[in-house]
Amino acid sequence: MMMGIACLLLAYIAGSFPSGLVIGKAIYHTDPRDYGSHNTGATNAYRVFGAAGGLAVLILDVAKGMLGVYLGQVAASAMAMPEDQRIYLMVLGGCVALVGHSCSIFLKFKGGKGVATGLGIILFLAPWETLIVFAIWCAIVAATRIVSLGSIVAAVLVPVLMYFFDEPLPLTIFGLIAAVLVVVRHKDNIIRLMQGRELKVERIKKN
Ligand code: G3P
Repeated sequence: MMMGIACLLLAYIAGSFPSGLVIGKAIYHTDPRDYGSHNTGATNAYRVFGAAGGLAVLILDVAKGMLGVYLGQVAASAMAMPEDQRIYLMVLGGCVALVGHSCSIFLKFKGGKGVATGLGIILFLAPWETLIVFAIWCAIVAATRIVSLGSIVAAVLVPVLMYFFDEPLPLTIFGLIAAVLVVVRHKDNIIRLMQGRELKVERIKKN
């Protein structure tokens, strides 16, 4: 039991790691929250730091989601859970990492919009659905240059695909909860989209 709690605590701390802020301050001596969408995620990191910075943040944020699921798996093994029930702890580990990402202990319980960390979670647990939503996300972003639009559509499609792929119920429920979280976290983006003034994914000039 203690091992399970320790793994989930670790998943929360790992999810809380503010990748965009750490990379921004350590390498570019810049806080990404001062520019663009003021978000610390990979999209805004690309706007502010360029491709290398954006990619580094993306990789770290995806890794946080994967690590959360892995820690859930470790907890399930340590607790000798039956094989068919391990999915519950794996999903829980991913959820805890996602909560850490969005309500980071290092950012006064503020944080990112959950897209890249959610991507890491579903990449681990449902790779085929991930491939499909990633292709749709790429098509939308390529056509519009608006990442938030691609992210919202992809997030909403995840639970739908999980349902049609007949994934275990806890995973489909996770997909649904994650979709709601991602849409809610994109509240400001949705307002900007409706007003036709959403930021595109392009480099911005810093003052
Ligand atoms: O993952 C976040 C993305 O969907 C939107 O980012 O910086 O345009 O708010 P941003």
